[in-house]
Amino acid sequence: MASLNHEMIEKNLGLMIPLIIVVISFGALAEIIPLFFSKQVVEPVAGLKPTPALALEGRDIYIREGCTVCHTQMIRPFRAETERYGHYSVSGEFVYEHPFLWGSKRTGPDLARVGGKYSDAWHRAHLYNPRDVVPESNMPAFPWLFNTQVDGSVTGAKMEALRKVGVPYTDDDIAGAAAAVEGKYEIEALVAYLQQLGTVISNKR
Ligand code: HEC
Repeated sequence: MASLNHEMIEKNLGLMIPLIIVVISFGALAEIIPLFFSKQVVEPVAGLKPTPALALEGRDIYIREGCTVCHTQMIRPFRAETERYGHYSVSGEFVYEHPFLWGSKRTGPDLARVGGKYSDAWHRAHLYNPRDVVPESNMPAFPWLFNTQVDGSVTGAKMEALRKVGVPYTDDDIAGAAAAVEGKYEIEALVAYLQQLGTVISNKR
């Protein structure tokens, strides 16, 4: 009798598809729903601060230029990764990140803890022409970042939008946003962004 039912389901797509969906959703519910309530996932790590105005603009430039296509920001808890990049990434570091920039493809190295690894001058030279500092590099050059100034007219509005989804920017942060980026070039914003990446957790290797 049991095998007859089984045959009936397998031969009837209209029945099998809904049943597959039911079975898979139980798996998803059991795995995903508890995460919404897990402190480890929803609470920021000690010392985590919202990204400052200039670095926030740098983050948008990072997204615009497609840095995410070649660089991940997610160090996995494996020895090969932690020896190379530093402490593995923890969920509490990403609580204020909207959207996440974890990425999935590493043409270049992971950047989750690149903050403080190089000087600002190194980053500027590297972004102007990667081959000047890493001769074998196949990373593209981004020279236009040196000619364009950051448009601060919407920086405050971006921070306000982030505050709506839980990033604790203060009124002063938002009021001072335009002034914080005024007259800055895109390269300065991008380097400010890179230099704070992953620094909330000790980067000792
Ligand atoms: C086409 C792929 C590609 C893109 C797009 C790309 N990179 Fe890279 N990146 C690389 C490769 C490959 C390396 C390793 C060689 C080197 O250091 O130049 C690298 C290295 C780096 C490093 C040094 C990391 C380290 O730990 O040594 C930084 C920082 C960096 N990239 C930032 C950026 C930023 C910022 C952008 C966007 C403006 C960007 N990259 C876009 C491929 C890419």
